[in-house]
Amino acid sequence: MGTEKAAGTADNKGQQLMASLDCNTCHKEHEKVIGPAFADIAKKYTSADEEMLAKKVIAGGSGNWGTVPMTAHPDLKLEDAKEMVKYVLSVK
Ligand code: HEC
Repeated sequence: MGTEKAAGTADNKGQQLMASLDCNTCHKEHEKVIGPAFADIAKKYTSADEEMLAKKVIAGGSGNWGTVPMTAHPDLKLEDAKEMVKYVLSVK
């Protein structure tokens, strides 16, 4: 048993990165905004999809949830995108 990490604490690197970017304009943890809720994304995918999802965050695109596209984030490093995807997939 590790120490419990409450959602919203700043010790999660992916979450910190997202706060510094525009992700939260279109996504919330538990509600669909423009993009799907992170909890719904976490239900649909597993950690095996991390790399694919990280690339999608960088390239942007639509089709998995509807026709509304996610904007591209071409300046993101794959490594950082993966940290964010890890966080997204951890949302319950
Ligand atoms: C302009 C609004 C917008 C912004 C900004 C945005 N997203 Fe999205 N996001 C979307 C939409 C819309 C989808 C659904 C795309 C689809 O249907 O394939 C999505 C899908 C996703 C998915 C799931 C991809 C899939 O193929 O299922 C992840 C993971 C994600 N976003 C993470 C992020 C992260 C991390 C950021 C910040 C770097 C971000 N999003 C910024 C709108 C946005």
